[in-house]
Amino acid sequence: MMKDADKIKSPLDRQLLAWYRRNQRCLPWRKTNDPYRIWISEIMLQQTQVDTVIPYYHRFLKAFPTVSSLAHAPLQNVLKVWENLGYYSRARNMHAAARMIVEKFDGRIPDNLEVIQTLPGVGLYTAGAILSIAYGQAIPAVDGNVRRILCRLFAIRKPVDDTREQKQLQKLATSLIPVKHPGDFNQALMDLGATICKAKNPDCARCPIARHCQARLHDLQNVLPIIRKAPAIPHRQAAAAVIRNSKGMLLVVQRPTSGLLASLWKLPGGFIKSGENTENSLRHSVKEELAISIRQGKHLVSVNHTYTHFRITLQAYECRLLKGTPKPLGCQNWRWASLTDLKKLPLSKIDRMILVETK
Ligand code: ADE
Repeated sequence: MMKDADKIKSPLDRQLLAWYRRNQRCLPWRKTNDPYRIWISEIMLQQTQVDTVIPYYHRFLKAFPTVSSLAHAPLQNVLKVWENLGYYSRARNMHAAARMIVEKFDGRIPDNLEVIQTLPGVGLYTAGAILSIAYGQAIPAVDGNVRRILCRLFAIRKPVDDTREQKQLQKLATSLIPVKHPGDFNQALMDLGATICKAKNPDCARCPIARHCQARLHDLQNVLPIIRKAPAIPHRQAAAAVIRNSKGMLLVVQRPTSGLLASLWKLPGGFIKSGENTENSLRHSVKEELAISIRQGKHLVSVNHTYTHFRITLQAYECRLLKGTPKPLGCQNWRWASLTDLKKLPLSKIDRMILVETK
């Protein structure tokens, strides 16, 4: 253990827990001990802010109140409840994990650190959060917020996005976690990171552990943690075809079972290679996807979206089917969809944005 960590461990957890009892955020997953509910909340919270998660958490548990109901639901229903929450692999992984829990673990969320990490979508952070909160095990849950707090508390000047440094911070957190109320301790750090020890302008005057903070002592709270500059993400261009049949129904395709936004529905089309002409590109991608020939008509709308690894500008064009009957060549499935059908299908945000604009 770091020498300083040893010295402050006991007052730190006492002061932090006392603060948490008085100031914790009132969150729905804090009103339960049910490991299933805690697992759902932790998966949703992996990439998403608390405020956004809350309505999805309620809706999800209403639709799938038990691990068994989730395991037996069609993936499409799970994706539909997840629609617009983003990072859809979380929903696919959860669905696969629920099946594994029912088949291999007798319907019980595993309570062992190694075993729980065999569930798809459960990494070290989520494993620590579930085991400490649902099962009272003294295991830390170290994410970016906790790393920021640790870097400040101990005035750590090494880049926080370095893998070796992250291992050190995991060890440091392990040495600090108390045997009593480890779940509250972890959630106290989460709340401290969200409300006081924020990335910008930390509110040290209100911090319950400011007296132990080395960054504050050396006036480094606005300098730490050190983060190396992230590389710029590429900007990709794409085109989509809005094709209607004589009844006004829209041609939509289901994405393949793996890759970006897997199994969600979308408009036909795809990425445009750099230097390629949009019209040719759209014709080719629709042909590869559905084995049909189309003619591109007027430009309808352009929408922008940012994913983790790239930004996209998608141009939608009104198109006419010239030749062929659609076949699922480069997609899982295709169909003509009415407005009511479109409401029921899980669609990614960018496709939903186009539909709103072209209605
Ligand atoms: N972020 C991840 N897990 C959380 C939790 N249990 N409470 C609040 N924010 C969180």
